[in-house]
Amino acid sequence: MCRLFTAEIWQFGCLYGRRPAPHGGPGHVITRLRVALVVVLGPTAPQANKRRTIVTPKIPVIDIQNLHKSYGELEVLRGVDITAQKGTVVSLIGSSGSGKSTLLRCANLLENSQKGDIRFNGEAVVWAGNTHTRHPGDASQVLRIRTNLSMVFQQFNLWAHMTILQNVMEAPMTVLRRDRSEVENAARGYLDQVGIGDKCDAYPAQLSGGQQQRAAIARALCMEPEALLFDEPTSALDPELEQEVVRVIKDLASEGRTMMLVTHDMKMARDVSDHVVFLHKGRIEEEGPPTALFGAPKSERLQGFLSSTMTT
Ligand SMILES: Nc1ncnc2c1ncn2[C@@H]1O[C@H](COP(=O)(O)OP(=O)(O)OP(=O)(O)O)[C@@H](O)[C@H]1O
Ligand SMILES: [Mg+2]
Repeated sequence: MCRLFTAEIWQFGCLYGRRPAPHGGPGHVITRLRVALVVVLGPTAPQANKRRTIVTPKIPVIDIQNLHKSYGELEVLRGVDITAQKGTVVSLIGSSGSGKSTLLRCANLLENSQKGDIRFNGEAVVWAGNTHTRHPGDASQVLRIRTNLSMVFQQFNLWAHMTILQNVMEAPMTVLRRDRSEVENAARGYLDQVGIGDKCDAYPAQLSGGQQQRAAIARALCMEPEALLFDEPTSALDPELEQEVVRVIKDLASEGRTMMLVTHDMKMARDVSDHVVFLHKGRIEEEGPPTALFGAPKSERLQGFLSSTMTT
């Protein structure tokens, strides 16, 4: 209706001539009126359509470029580039010791790296120190990034002395200082979502491994992070319990969550990922969509890795 009103005023302006009269006049006044209305009410339909055609570059949630990380003399990451766009799942695969967990911990700033850029939603990590002493230089930025990148570990890391509900509520209340009743509602909701809503009052030792890992996922979700980082979330579980966790991860992927996932489970990597990265000795040996990477691996190392994981 507002746009119609604008159009009518414009037509009214046209009746009095398209160009403003030399010293002002009705057309001039109405043209100005129209400009003012467009500013207040937003563009008319053709202008709005025109705006939609402008392509804005997508800013990845996680963007890591040329990352180098050593432990003493041991070079673990040797120039790794990896990005995760919003709503996508990126899986990291590779042999033991290839640097997968290190890369995830560097992304979360749990580890210092010596060289390279890490951006979170376009915001570059601010570094202090020189190459050998490099570390994040802005504590509030570290907290902001860590709370937006929730990590799920292989060994659950639940507090043994707290109930499952308390475990899930702890970080949002102490780190984010959110309201208790709001956090409790959210925590119960996430525990329901991962299928253990009936275990709120149990302690971790009273749960199976699969249930504990699902509690750890609910805890990560309760931070309402921008992205989730999983480091081998199923490898401590026996095959039956593993499937409970795989189902939860698949559900999160279909919800459009942004995730980086280190896994030895090639089936899960193939099923949930938009992009798969094969790391070998701290470098990306091959990467691509799962159909290409698993269906037609190019590098001999990846071919060897896949055939060994299929037979184990
Ligand atoms: N804190 C540390 N101090 C020294 N060396 C480390 C440390 N953490 C990892 N490393 C070494 O870095 C290399 C990469 O380790 P990382 O844990 O990233 O491998 P990974 O690919 O996750 O292996 P896995 O599949 O076995 O979990 C290994 O050689 C490991 O021994
Ligand atoms: Mg690891």
